[in-house]
Amino acid sequence: MFNEALANERCRWPQWRDKLRTPQEAAALIKDGMTVGMSGFTRAGEAKEVPRALAERAGNEPLSITLMTGASLGNDLDRMLTEANALSRRMPFQVDATLRRAINDGSVMFMDQHLSETVELLRNRQLANMDVAVIEACAITEDGYIVPTTSVGNSASYAILADKVIIELNLDSPAALEGMHDIYIPQMRPTRTPIPVVAADSRIGTPHIPIDSESIEAIVVTQGHDSPSTVLPPDADTRSIADHLISFFADEVRDGRLTPSLLPLQAGIGSMANAVMSGLAEGPFEHLSMYSEVLQDSTFDLLDSGKLDFASGCSITLSEDCGKRVWENLDHYRDRLVLRPQELSNHPGIVRRLGIISINTALEMDIYGNVNSTHVGGTKMMNGIGGSGDFARNAQLSVFVSKSLAKGGDISSIVPFVSHVDHTEHDVDVLVTEHGLADLRGLAPRERAVEVIEKCVAPIYRPALRDYFSEACQRGGHTPHCLEQALAWHIAMEKEGNMRRFQYVEKAQAIG
Ligand code: COA
Repeated sequence: MFNEALANERCRWPQWRDKLRTPQEAAALIKDGMTVGMSGFTRAGEAKEVPRALAERAGNEPLSITLMTGASLGNDLDRMLTEANALSRRMPFQVDATLRRAINDGSVMFMDQHLSETVELLRNRQLANMDVAVIEACAITEDGYIVPTTSVGNSASYAILADKVIIELNLDSPAALEGMHDIYIPQMRPTRTPIPVVAADSRIGTPHIPIDSESIEAIVVTQGHDSPSTVLPPDADTRSIADHLISFFADEVRDGRLTPSLLPLQAGIGSMANAVMSGLAEGPFEHLSMYSEVLQDSTFDLLDSGKLDFASGCSITLSEDCGKRVWENLDHYRDRLVLRPQELSNHPGIVRRLGIISINTALEMDIYGNVNSTHVGGTKMMNGIGGSGDFARNAQLSVFVSKSLAKGGDISSIVPFVSHVDHTEHDVDVLVTEHGLADLRGLAPRERAVEVIEKCVAPIYRPALRDYFSEACQRGGHTPHCLEQALAWHIAMEKEGNMRRFQYVEKAQAIG
């Protein structure tokens, strides 16, 4: 049983008791073949009990749905749903190992989408109608409007567009979240007006999701927490990457292209981006702002250090330690935070208007600056493009970071030609590894290749890439390539399990 007094405080909609259901009763509203939208973005703010009940049911009867979320789900829900064969189609992003295997063996159809775009497609009826939305709330207002929890993601549009809405009222979510959200839904085309976000701290909408309360079919009272994030602490390589970027930004300030408050920052998911942002706490910059997607530990380190004035995102995903610090002291941070729908946090027009500095992590990059964020060996999905394309294409400065080596040196993250292109050379300004920073702005492909090879590549792989580029230049072309060798590094990986045949040391030993 739940705490009645607390539930009455959090749920101010008078009819709520008529809609009170168990997770199993609510999950029964979801039928085989339906399209279901769920809250949840990068393991934050997902509905927790109804998906679990759905997975249990799918274990006992044929039940397979199209599942749309904001991004990845926490609490192992993607794993449970995959193991129960409950997913036929999934979009727009995931990070779960079991689901990843099912996507790569073809048993789940995965649509890897720009995260700003999913609800546009839904709204324009370019995707199937949404039958049911399942949204986690920290409160329900007097009018039956939803106050989301730690993420907004796609929840607002899913709740507005779905035929039926199930709300999970999570009594463990901090009450202080109420008021932190800014919900704005762009008008239908062709009469859409400009979206009036002009700074990271612009507030242009409402603190709740305004839905037709007639669509509320069930309210499930829950308790539980988001999964802690799995970011690793900075290591020597990520610190070097951060140092290269910080001195680059300092030079930009010295040369008058940026001011000491830089421009609103966006940082991608994962340990690398988190480490780079943490590094800014030690840099010579003041009054920073973030206009980003996920707010990770580093956001709160920067707020605590006094370097960051304001952060806008669409979800908050924290490690266990940082979570304790933030959720128990949310009042201390809340005036400096806003959570928006991902359509707004990642909006290409706003990213360009604000002149965002975007910093995302690459899986691999090539000598000309093309970036692969998603496909291992050109075929196997890792997580998805996420918001990296929304930002990289439109940012004032589009930065990609990566360690120069993966898998203990078996793989060079810089190759002659990426095996899958998520971000073309036209959208990439700066590449950074622990060895250095390649500033590609204003350079032609032949100049870019020299900059990337000499600044970013690991020394053991550098001679082979120099040889490749030199032979390619002899053959000619605006973007020279030896096409029959362009993917040889990936073919070696596939056949031999590593790229070591291109390492200088081994080649020298073989010759000797
Ligand atoms: N080839 C094969 N595997 C590679 C690789 C390469 N070139 N480079 C890295 N990897 C592997 C790593 O070994 C690691 O494997 P493991 O999980 O078995 O240890 C895994 O990829 C993750 O790499 P890691 O170095 O831990 O980086 P990360 O946690 O920072 O994640 C991405 C890197 C690219 C996977 C991640 O940032 C991502 O999914 N990006 C796309 C979405 C995005 O950019 N979103 C942000 C938008 S706001």
